[in-house]
Amino acid sequence: MARSRSVFVCQSCGTIHPRWAGQCEGCGEWNSIVEETSDAAPLGGAAKGKSGASRGKAGSIDFVPLTGSSERAPRLATRIGEFDRVLGGGLVQGSATLIGGDPGIGKSTLLLQAAAALSASARCAYISGEEAIDQVRMRADRLGVAASQVELAAATNVRDICAAIDVAAGPKIVVIDSIQTMYVDALDSAPGTVGQVRACAQELIRVAKRRGTALLIVGHVTKEGAIAGPRVLEHMVDTVLYFEGERGHPFRILRGVKNRFGPTDEIGVFDMTGEGLKEVGNPSELFLSDRQDGVAGAAVFAGIEGTRPMLVEIQALVVPSPLGTPRRAVVGWDSARLSMVLAVLEGRAGYRLSGNDVYLNVAGGLRITEPAADLAVAVALISSLTGEAVPADRVVFGEIGLSGEVRAVSQTEARLKEAAKLGFASAMTPRRRGAQSKGALRIIEMGDLSALDALFGDPAGATARIAEI
Ligand code: TYD
Ligand code: MG
Repeated sequence: MARSRSVFVCQSCGTIHPRWAGQCEGCGEWNSIVEETSDAAPLGGAAKGKSGASRGKAGSIDFVPLTGSSERAPRLATRIGEFDRVLGGGLVQGSATLIGGDPGIGKSTLLLQAAAALSASARCAYISGEEAIDQVRMRADRLGVAASQVELAAATNVRDICAAIDVAAGPKIVVIDSIQTMYVDALDSAPGTVGQVRACAQELIRVAKRRGTALLIVGHVTKEGAIAGPRVLEHMVDTVLYFEGERGHPFRILRGVKNRFGPTDEIGVFDMTGEGLKEVGNPSELFLSDRQDGVAGAAVFAGIEGTRPMLVEIQALVVPSPLGTPRRAVVGWDSARLSMVLAVLEGRAGYRLSGNDVYLNVAGGLRITEPAADLAVAVALISSLTGEAVPADRVVFGEIGLSGEVRAVSQTEARLKEAAKLGFASAMTPRRRGAQSKGALRIIEMGDLSALDALFGDPAGATARIAEI
C-alpha cells in the first residue's frame, strides 16, 4: 500500500508547491494554493483486472510502420450544423472534447440537444453530476427532445461511470456534465480541485480511447476565463471548444481553441431562445439587426471568422475626459490594439485623441481577433470624434501599420461578396493590385490614413479624394 503524501497545488495554474504559500510562484495568483493528497497507487479499480491483463510484459511494445492502413472510423455528425462545423465535420470516435464556458451560458443545453440528435444513430449517454434526472428530463421537455433515445444517469463517482461505459456494447457517445462535479475516490481532495479534475479526466479519457467512445466533457471556467483545473485539462483532450456570449444577449458563440481533427478558427453561432439553442445560418444579418442609421461613431466591419465572412458593427464613443489619465474601455476587441490605433491616428493622421475618453464596443457580443478590424475601428473613432456619420451602406476593413499605412488583408473577395449580398453599396478597403469593383459595390481604396476624414458623408467628395490617395 503506497503512502499518500500531501502536496500543495495552485488551483489556478496547477503548479505544485512543496508547502503552502499565500501566493503562487507559477502564476502570481493569491490564495489559490490548496492542499491535496497525491496517491501513488494506480487509479481505476474497476478496470484493474483487464488493464493488468492487457498491460503484458515490460518491453512488449510493437512498432508498426507509418505506411500501414488504419481503419478510419466515420465521424459521428451531431446534425447541428454549427456544432459540426466547429468540430470539423462531427465527433471523432475515441476522442475527448472539452466544452468550456461560464456557468449558465448554455453548455448543458447545447450538449443535451447534441446528445438527442446523436442518439438517433448511436447509443448515447448523458451523465449529469449537477442536475437530478428529473431536472434533465424537464429540460429535455422544454427543448422538445424528450422523445429521443438518450440514456440519462446522475452520477459523480468516476469509478462507477467508467464501469458503466467500459463494457462491450457500451455507449458510443458519453457526455460528462461537468468535470468539476466528478471525483475519484482514491483522492481525498474535494471535487473541482486540480488534482481531482485531472485524475477524473485521465481515467475517463483512458476508457474512452480504449472503447472508441466519443467523450464530451463540460468544464466551467473561472472568473479569469480559464477552465478550472485548466491547462492540465487542455493538454489531455483532443479538442477544446469555448462556448461564449454576453449575458443579456441571446447570441452564443462556440469557438474552437484546439482541435486535433479539424480547424481551430471556426465559430458556430447560436441564438438562445425559450426552446433552447437555434442555429444561426446567417450571422451577419443577426449582428447588424439592431443597427441605427445616421449615428456617428459606428462602422460596419467586414470580417472573416474561420472560413466564413461575417459583418459586425463596431461602435466607438470619443468624449472629452475630465480625468488626468483618460479612460479607455474595450468590449470585444484587444485593448492593446486599440491603443496602437489611437497612437497612429494621433501621430500619423493628426487627430487629437489623447485628451478624450475612448469607449469601443463590438455589437452583439462577438469578440474580434483579426487585425483587419483596425481600419473599421479607426473609422468608428474618427466618426465619433467629428460627429459625422459613416454612410449606412458602407463596410470597412484593412489592417493599419505603425506608419499610418493601410495594409492588405486576406480573403478580400469573400468579404466584398458578403457585403454585396447584404445590400451594402460601398466598401473602404486597403489598396490592391489589379483591383476592380465588384458588381454594384463601389470600392474606396485607402493607401494610408491621411485622407480618412474626407471619406465620410458626401460620396461625391469622397470620390474626388479617392483619386488623390
Ligand atoms: P445551461 O445550459 O444550464 O448553462 P450551463 O450548463 O452552461 O451552466 O443554460 C442555462 C441558461 O440558459 C439559463 O439562464 C436559462 C437559459 N435557457 C434558455 O434561455 N432557454 C432554454 O431552452 C434553456 C434550456 C435554457
Ligand atoms: Mg450545466
